[in-house]
Amino acid sequence: MNVAVYPGSFDPITNGHLDIIRRAAKLYDKVIVGVLTNSAKQPMFSKSQRADFIRKSTADIDNIEVSFFDGLLVDFLKRENAKVIVKGLRATSDFEYEFQMALVNKQLCPDVETVFLSSSERFTYLSSSIVREIGKLGGDISVFVPPEILDEVNAAMCKE
Ligand code: PNS
Repeated sequence: MNVAVYPGSFDPITNGHLDIIRRAAKLYDKVIVGVLTNSAKQPMFSKSQRADFIRKSTADIDNIEVSFFDGLLVDFLKRENAKVIVKGLRATSDFEYEFQMALVNKQLCPDVETVFLSSSERFTYLSSSIVREIGKLGGDISVFVPPEILDEVNAAMCKE
């Protein structure tokens, strides 16, 4: 079975993430969306909220699993018997950091391949931090997040 991991903070999942998940699901037998709390970031949503948002947004895709991980990404891949890391690239500005991570992960675990999917043009500007910023300031985020989670994300942001 060809298993891929799509890792990230997903704080919250955006339509850009969902686009990458849908496309990866067509390429691999199973795609595990690996949710972690990035130590460099203070998340707006709890890990379980973020995972719940992903599950609701991907309910129509059969070969998706949502899982949490801490520690090294390559250790998570080993535990899940996965050999591929999927990453989305929005712009060349993403590339340097992503390329560095791909090289580090290759060094840590030579069996693992990082596969970059280029973001669809209509999502190149989109990020979770943009969604959080607009939501906190009372803007309309309906074009940025999956419809299945819009009300919950809005409600959670209002409580902030
Ligand atoms: O959505 P994010 O926060 O940009 O995702 C970053 C993530 C989760 C992909 C990255 O922080 C990561 O892989 N963390 C796991 C720790 C690790 O393995 N570090 C070594 C590789 S540089």
